[in-house]
Amino acid sequence: MRKSSYRTLSLSPRPWRWTATLFAMAGVAITILLFHQFLSPHLPTKWHDPALAIILLIGTGFFSYLVFGMLSQQQIAVLEANQRLEKQRDGLNALREASYAMTTVGDWTDIVQNVVDVARRLTGAKYAALAVLEDDETYTIRQFFTSGVSADQIHQIGQYPTGRGLLGEVIRHRRPIRLQRLQDHPASIGFPPHHPHMENFLGLPLLYQSQVMGHLYLTEKADGFTADDQAIVELFARQAAAVIANARFYQEREVFATLKERERIGRDLHDGVLQTLYGITLSLDNLVDSHDTLDQDTATELNRISETLGLLMTEIRFFIQSLESTSIDFRIALADMLRRLGPMDDITMTFNDERYLELHPDRIHDLLLSIQEAVSNARIHGHSHHIVIEWTSTDEFYQVTIKDDGEGFVYHPDTTHTHFGIRNMTKRIERWHGQVHIDSQRHVGTTVTLQIPWL
Ligand SMILES: Nc1ncnc2c1ncn2[C@@H]1O[C@H](COP(=O)(O)OP(=O)(O)O)[C@@H](O)[C@H]1O
Ligand SMILES: [Mg+2]
Repeated sequence: MRKSSYRTLSLSPRPWRWTATLFAMAGVAITILLFHQFLSPHLPTKWHDPALAIILLIGTGFFSYLVFGMLSQQQIAVLEANQRLEKQRDGLNALREASYAMTTVGDWTDIVQNVVDVARRLTGAKYAALAVLEDDETYTIRQFFTSGVSADQIHQIGQYPTGRGLLGEVIRHRRPIRLQRLQDHPASIGFPPHHPHMENFLGLPLLYQSQVMGHLYLTEKADGFTADDQAIVELFARQAAAVIANARFYQEREVFATLKERERIGRDLHDGVLQTLYGITLSLDNLVDSHDTLDQDTATELNRISETLGLLMTEIRFFIQSLESTSIDFRIALADMLRRLGPMDDITMTFNDERYLELHPDRIHDLLLSIQEAVSNARIHGHSHHIVIEWTSTDEFYQVTIKDDGEGFVYHPDTTHTHFGIRNMTKRIERWHGQVHIDSQRHVGTTVTLQIPWL
């Protein structure tokens, strides 16, 4: 198709014009000759002119029909070629815009989420998803980013895919799969209840230097995905993989730098402060032991100081330990964040259970930003006087509520696209397969509940 239209395009019209003109003239001449030679002797004289006219008329008509038919065919081919070029140009323009839109600011998760959103816009697909795998070659999905699926739908579906079925097929084969009806593919295992209807499908790996950075899945493009769509998406996938790889590299470096820094602080504390304190305690103990002349009060006081120093040393040892572990205490991080927001006289924090407050820094990060959003909403929009932040945990999940006594508002979950604060909060919590509930009453206040399963 592509080749034939280009070949027709390259034909120059000039020889055709002359050939057709000569043909027409020759045709008329030959017709008249043949008429006089063969037909006119058999006809009465008065029929000669009308008969010749009719034959010429039919001949010219037939000839014109042929020539114009060929011309219009050429025109169609040119039009089609133009449309094709236009489409390709649109595709490349969209690709260029998509590359600009793939930001490299924000943390890794923000960047990956942005890649899915851009991919969906680029292709005109209704839904897009990006799966990030575990590092252990088990082909299981560790994180699943979606675009086009509402928060409500995600709640209803309940669980993210784990990498069986068709998604796993793309993962295992490391090559694109394009389908008009994904249900017909032998690897398809169907959707869980409440899953939106999806038929046409394009899935492909995001490869960067032959390393898999993730897998991109697109579904429900009007009229399905064409080979051209696939070509554009493959180009996009290469850039996206590079963006993701880069973001991961920086995050790793940052984490590495933080760990190094913690290690250094720990070492300094251990070798410097702790040793000095230890020396002081020893001197104090020596002082008390060797001087019989000390009066009782002074001795008691010195002993007390030595004990306090002992406690202080224990605390520092704990602190060094916490520096070395990769988990962070949620309470400390929360207080830190709130203090950075300004005076916190209007905030009360309560913790129902002190056992499980150690969380991975990534979780802490998403939790803190969500809480920060809820707190500033309570202050700015609710004009609240008092905010209670409460932590509860059970065997299955932990939960943070942010409750204010502000003005409240009427909350419609389906208008979250205009409320970016609440939308981002929801995305952050869903990243950990958790849920956000907002309960608000006018003139009473608002309670935001963030609930995240442990696993
Ligand atoms: N705690 C709250 N008290 C009163 N109104 C709130 C509260 N939280 C949110 N809102 C309302 O919901 C809207 C959306 O909030 P949000 O998604 O954070 O977006 P933004 O803060 O950018 O307006 C706010 O504009 C406000 O009208
Ligand atoms: Mg807000």
